[in-house]
Amino acid sequence: LRKQRLLVVANRLPVSAVRKGEDSWQLEISVGGLVSALLGVKEFDARWIGWAGVNVPDETGQKTLTIALAEKRCIPVFLDEDTVHQYYNGYCNNMLWPAFHYLGLPQEDRLATTRGFQSQFDAYKKANQMFANVVSKHYEEGDVVWCHDYHLMFLPKFLKEYNSNMKVGWFLHTPFPSSEIHRMLPSRSELLRSVLAADLVGFHTYDYARHFVSACRRILGLEGTPEGVEDQGKLTRVAAFPIGIDSDRFIRALELPQVQDHMKELKERFAGRKVMLGVDRLDMIKGIPQKILAFEEFLEENPEWRDKVVLLQIAVPTRTDVPEYQKLTSQVHEIVGRINGRFGTLTAVPIHHLDRSLDFHALCALYAVTDVALVTSLRDGMNLVSYEFVACQASKKGVLILSEFAGAAQSLGAGAILVNPWNITEVAYSIGYALNMSADEREKRHNHNFRHVTTHTSQEWAATFVSELNDTIVQAQLRT
Ligand code: UDP
Ligand code: G6P
Repeated sequence: LRKQRLLVVANRLPVSAVRKGEDSWQLEISVGGLVSALLGVKEFDARWIGWAGVNVPDETGQKTLTIALAEKRCIPVFLDEDTVHQYYNGYCNNMLWPAFHYLGLPQEDRLATTRGFQSQFDAYKKANQMFANVVSKHYEEGDVVWCHDYHLMFLPKFLKEYNSNMKVGWFLHTPFPSSEIHRMLPSRSELLRSVLAADLVGFHTYDYARHFVSACRRILGLEGTPEGVEDQGKLTRVAAFPIGIDSDRFIRALELPQVQDHMKELKERFAGRKVMLGVDRLDMIKGIPQKILAFEEFLEENPEWRDKVVLLQIAVPTRTDVPEYQKLTSQVHEIVGRINGRFGTLTAVPIHHLDRSLDFHALCALYAVTDVALVTSLRDGMNLVSYEFVACQASKKGVLILSEFAGAAQSLGAGAILVNPWNITEVAYSIGYALNMSADEREKRHNHNFRHVTTHTSQEWAATFVSELNDTIVQAQLRT
């Protein structure tokens, strides 16, 4: 049987390119939940279309990078510097990202003339058109085109204008906020209408799907039905497809000698101390300052733990050209420095903060030796780090402290300790509870989550979305 052809379109390609010479490129795996999940999608004849994270103004560069990426089944969209600035740094990451995570609209923009906003929005549309052009070049009849995330909300509309028979799905990897938040966006109606051009629109949770439908009802005046949103007889199907991870990949990795060696090193390094772990992109939504302050409160209230626990925080630099992210970086460094100064000794500090990413094997080893993982997102579409931690804990059965504002709280809530990250005292208390938890309770909680993580995989997520998209189109044909 021939595999279904799939064009996966996302702003970020699974590999990012670093230029090593006029015509030589180094490709590195990109960081982020979207890329992690989609790497697990293997049962399709898939091609990726997206940005390689690098500015390539010259023809030689574009040609050679296109060839290098083709080996990874990736097709580049070349975005010039100004477009990256206005579309990616500006509209996507300074406007849509904070709004969708309930952090409000940026202060500066609220006061700026509407021209600043308008030019970013124009760049956003222009960038979406550039993606659409590349898709249409590579599209073959019968392909499923799967668009991803808040960067590409205009893509369904542009693709349908190009070919109304194209099978188009769109999936959002962030929360979709309450319609009261979406209402604030100056471009609220156009964004909704463009997404509605898709045949199927998917979200991580039922709540996000419901918010989207009610935004369409309240802002566009359209009818919401249990199936989706209806506009003059045309139905856009809307549903929840909770994402997962390729859990086997993590479980298998733990057997590798290099990962075992790494685990041994870590155990020796932190012998006699419990290991707490945070793994996040250094992003406002992750609640990193709140997490560190809660850890400080825990140390303050529990002096007997001060030399018996360490917090390892992996903070992967991200979107470093956006001013809000720069501010966050210095804020976090300041807090970490203060707490290490306060509770550190000549031989040990309570917090190890790393501004870098880790390779896959190092990350697996770290997950496996951790006693307590701390996920304190203020909002998070799903949060795959929590899934990955659970997958690596089959022998240790450590505890997951998880924000109730992460999508994962809906799937891992029964096994995790759920917290409100804004309530630092509650998080500090949960840290103590987790560190003192009986082996029996840990095992019960772990088993619950392990079962979920190993049965709701990224492969299954993708297969369900694509088959629902195919069904939706068959049903639409039956109706006409
Ligand atoms: N990750 C990584 N290298 C690192 C740290 C994290 O590849 O050094 C990956 C991690 O394994 C996870 C993803 O980045 O798959 C983060 O996904 P998540 O859904 O937790 O958050 P997002 O970054 O998408 O907001
Ligand atoms: C989140 C978004 C992804 C994005 C990732 C990393 O997971 O949903 O679309 O790729 O963060 O962010 P970046 O801006 O580096 O692509």
